[in-house]
Amino acid sequence: MRIVLLGAPGSGKGTQAQKLVAGQGIPQVSTGDLLRAELKSESALGLRAKTDMDAGRLVADGLVLQIIERRLEKDDVRNGFILDGFPRNRTQAEDLARLLAEIEKPLDAVLLLDIDMEILSKRLTGRRTCSVTGKVLNIHFSPQQDLDACIAAGGELLYRDDDNEETIANRLGVYQEQTRPLIEFYRSAGLLRVVDAMGTVEEVAQRMQEALDS
Ligand code: AP5
Repeated sequence: MRIVLLGAPGSGKGTQAQKLVAGQGIPQVSTGDLLRAELKSESALGLRAKTDMDAGRLVADGLVLQIIERRLEKDDVRNGFILDGFPRNRTQAEDLARLLAEIEKPLDAVLLLDIDMEILSKRLTGRRTCSVTGKVLNIHFSPQQDLDACIAAGGELLYRDDDNEETIANRLGVYQEQTRPLIEFYRSAGLLRVVDAMGTVEEVAQRMQEALDS
């Protein structure tokens, strides 16, 4: 299956993508993760993206398209993929449609993680990533045993650079202005399936599966 996960920062796209990877046997393609990897390796592309990422703005469409094109050429996406964080505006959605039309592999579904905006700030300020397992956790919502397990394994609970209050406010603003309009774009294309993203990770995962099965 070729799936897009659409949703505000903190709606749970990354968390649910990891569940779907296990359930569907297809890889997660996260433009945020790909950009952070470019940044970590100090590539020219990563350094060009840094200012926008630090400020919570969208990275230039041309750069993002470059990393997506490169990623979608790899063998592991032949049977499908879960796009997490791409597309994020109309230009990117049209680029994606063109790219997939060229290889005759159109999207199967766009899952919208629908959530109250008020809860997002708590999810984002509380997010931590375990330095050993890479698992995404939350100091407000994850079971204490999961947080303890990271420390017991010798790990640290790492904070993402753009999870500070000022950048979070910018990211949420960018979502409202540029990404939210994609809901109508995909609804009119007949691809949109709305999933209630409130509740526990497991409850949301169950609804995602039902939306894909429907
Ligand atoms: P990106 O990495 O894509 O960040 P984002 O869209 O802001 O999304 P997040 O990763 O913050 O949230 P998420 O929805 O994945 O939530 P998560 O599952 O982690 O982008 C970062 C930056 O890169 C952008 O600002 C931009 O600069 C650039 N960029 C990326 N893609 C781009 C593109 N296409 N074009 C241009 N620029 C681009 O969950 C959040 C927290 O909540 C976690 O702690 C998790 O444990 C917790 N949680 C999740 N689900 C639940 C639940 N059900 N109950 C309780 N807690 C939960």
